[in-house]
Amino acid sequence: MVKVVQVHPRHPEPEVIREAAHILRRGGLVAFPTETVYGLGADALNPEAVARIFQVKGRPKYDPLIVHVASPEDIAHLVVQIPPKALHLARRFMPGPLTLVLPKAPHVPDIVTAGRPTVAVRVPAHPVALALLREAGCPVAAPSANRFGHTSPTRAEHVVADLGDAVDLILDAGPTPIGVESTVLDLTQEPPVILRPGGVPREALETVLGTVRMARGATEGTATPSPGMLPRHYAPEQSALWLFEGPREEALAWFLRTARQLRDQGRQVGLLIPEEDLSTLENRLPPDVRVEVLGPEATPEALAHRLFAALRNLEGRVDVILARDVPEHGLGLAVRDRLHRAADRIFPETTTEHRR
Ligand code: TXA
Ligand code: MG
Repeated sequence: MVKVVQVHPRHPEPEVIREAAHILRRGGLVAFPTETVYGLGADALNPEAVARIFQVKGRPKYDPLIVHVASPEDIAHLVVQIPPKALHLARRFMPGPLTLVLPKAPHVPDIVTAGRPTVAVRVPAHPVALALLREAGCPVAAPSANRFGHTSPTRAEHVVADLGDAVDLILDAGPTPIGVESTVLDLTQEPPVILRPGGVPREALETVLGTVRMARGATEGTATPSPGMLPRHYAPEQSALWLFEGPREEALAWFLRTARQLRDQGRQVGLLIPEEDLSTLENRLPPDVRVEVLGPEATPEALAHRLFAALRNLEGRVDVILARDVPEHGLGLAVRDRLHRAADRIFPETTTEHRR
């Protein structure tokens, strides 16, 4: 049985943190909460420990890891030099859900960066993560604590379900506040490039940096700016996700039509919808449709907070999950990105978008 220990989300118990830090220093694996999602941590300067992360997740070795540190000052030890833009961003967003890609210092192991000349670094804002990083005294490499390609974990139960016994300790501090991963920003390019939209909105970065570019979604098999940008990712296992892109009225009609069609074919249907859609659809849906309600559409933070847990609640219980696109402002950009990457089919369907 994997060891899961409850820890207070704001005032972590020192003895729990000491035990977890001890495991990290000995080369073990600890799953811990951050403000975004749960991470699977190992001592970033210990290549054998980091190798276990890849093994346990089933993650390909070409996909580099984020290195977590306790304070912005600690970033200096991992990189060649800190450009002025990084300092401005650190002052404004650290600790917080922002990961910076910078030229790496020579002693950062190649396995962490997948042989790249750059390293991704971040200072998480969760009190448990910060306490653990301080106590461990080493930088901690940590991807999201899910099986590779699966939906990221926002609760300790998700980590148990995906990785179970392969982890030495899981710290359970309840649901993570933000619910989508950090924004990954490449500062080695000019203007800086968002490799993955996440917890810090693009608009917020632009108030500090001026123009920020978005990486184009990479295609499988070609060189990718950020390997996590492979098209199908964050995906529910055992259920297909169908995503509708278009005006809300059309989406609502599509939900009703598609749910009925699928039900007539004997398939179980799940709906992943913003709050306001439920009141419109409620009495018109076939009876056995499972519904997961995210927050109000106008509050992208609420959509982000529930997104991954809602997907996990539906997966395996239904054959097809129907969802619709959400507006792009604030965290909406990250929510859209995850929905698009998780989607098997995008509607209205054109010939090139059909994936499976
Ligand atoms: O919120 C988060 O970022 C969470 C928590 C645990 O901190 N971590 C996380 O890690 O989402 P992971 O491994 O699931 O995603 C890291 C992303 C991947 O898309 C990876 O390819 C990219 O960051 N990345 C890491 N190092 C990179 C580098 N040197 N250059 C470009 N992309 C990099
Ligand atoms: Mg991940």
